[in-house]
Amino acid sequence: MAAIEARGLIKTFGSLRAVDGVSFQVERGETYGLLGPNGAGKTSIMRMLAGLSPISGGELFLSGLNVAEQPRAVRTRLGVVTQADGLDGELSVRQNLEVFGFLIGLSRREARARADEVLGFFRLRERGNAEVDELSGGMRRRLAIARALMGKPEVVVLDEPSTGLDPESRIRVWEELAELKRADVTLLMSTHYMDEAETLCDRIAIMHSGRILDEDTPPELIRRHAGSAALDLRPSGSSRADIRDALTNAGLRFREVGAVIRVTGGNGAPPVLPPLEGVQVSERAANLEDVFLALAGRGLQEEQP
Ligand SMILES: Nc1ncnc2c1ncn2[C@@H]1O[C@H](COP(=O)(O)OP(=O)(O)OP(=O)(O)O)[C@@H](O)[C@H]1O
Ligand SMILES: [Mg+2]
Repeated sequence: MAAIEARGLIKTFGSLRAVDGVSFQVERGETYGLLGPNGAGKTSIMRMLAGLSPISGGELFLSGLNVAEQPRAVRTRLGVVTQADGLDGELSVRQNLEVFGFLIGLSRREARARADEVLGFFRLRERGNAEVDELSGGMRRRLAIARALMGKPEVVVLDEPSTGLDPESRIRVWEELAELKRADVTLLMSTHYMDEAETLCDRIAIMHSGRILDEDTPPELIRRHAGSAALDLRPSGSSRADIRDALTNAGLRFREVGAVIRVTGGNGAPPVLPPLEGVQVSERAANLEDVFLALAGRGLQEEQP
């Protein structure tokens, strides 16, 4: 039985279809990533799963439980880390965890014991008595994840777990998420960081305008949409227009990003350049960012905020 299954899932806000018939399955212990530009519908899917937002159409299951019919049973199996973490800034770190524990039905003693465990797991024990407002952004984020684990959930939903963190804190969060994965917890996450998605996710759905454009493991998405290697071209000032024309005539997919023209292949092959003058070419392994650049040409465009 899948840990999460969506069948033709829909979320409407008035005439807007924020989620427009999405189907996917996440296996137990798998980390599944939702990627896509602002407004793609990632948070809407997670909020429906968490019972924070009614389902407009289609079906959503958690460990075989229908989310629309058994929201309480679903909530006890689910941990949720929202985009805004919703911590109480005036309570201490430990109080945040214990109060949350009462809310999900733990006894005082259970909540205290579990708070101890999660504080230890997230290496926050020595900050237990600090007020949340005194924590750094990274610690806050880790506390929000810790709180989601108070009820020993089977599935944890993480909306942009490391947004705004410095590289060191991000890696710390990654290590802790990897630890959860080892404990066979299923993770559904969204992120705008391609390296994060590549490092953490077993599979990824690339979303746009409420739909899934493609879904697979990161290496397979890269192979399919960006080929084995990407080329970064640095034209000298005068040659830029000629190079653009030559690439277009050769039928290559490219995108100008600052001083660089990025050329991607597809179907596993590297791009083959026509003869070019006045340009520095460097080859590198293709990555998920190239997948996004490649899909941009087919309707995946950054939307205006
Ligand atoms: N409460 C709401 N009322 C009306 N429209 C909403 C509401 N919540 C979300 N939307 C709209 O639904 C669409 C999807 O939003 P959603 O928050 O799911 O996107 P997202 O993929 O999480 O984006 P981001 O990367 O910016 O977090 C957007 O067009 C958004 O404006
Ligand atoms: Mg969102």
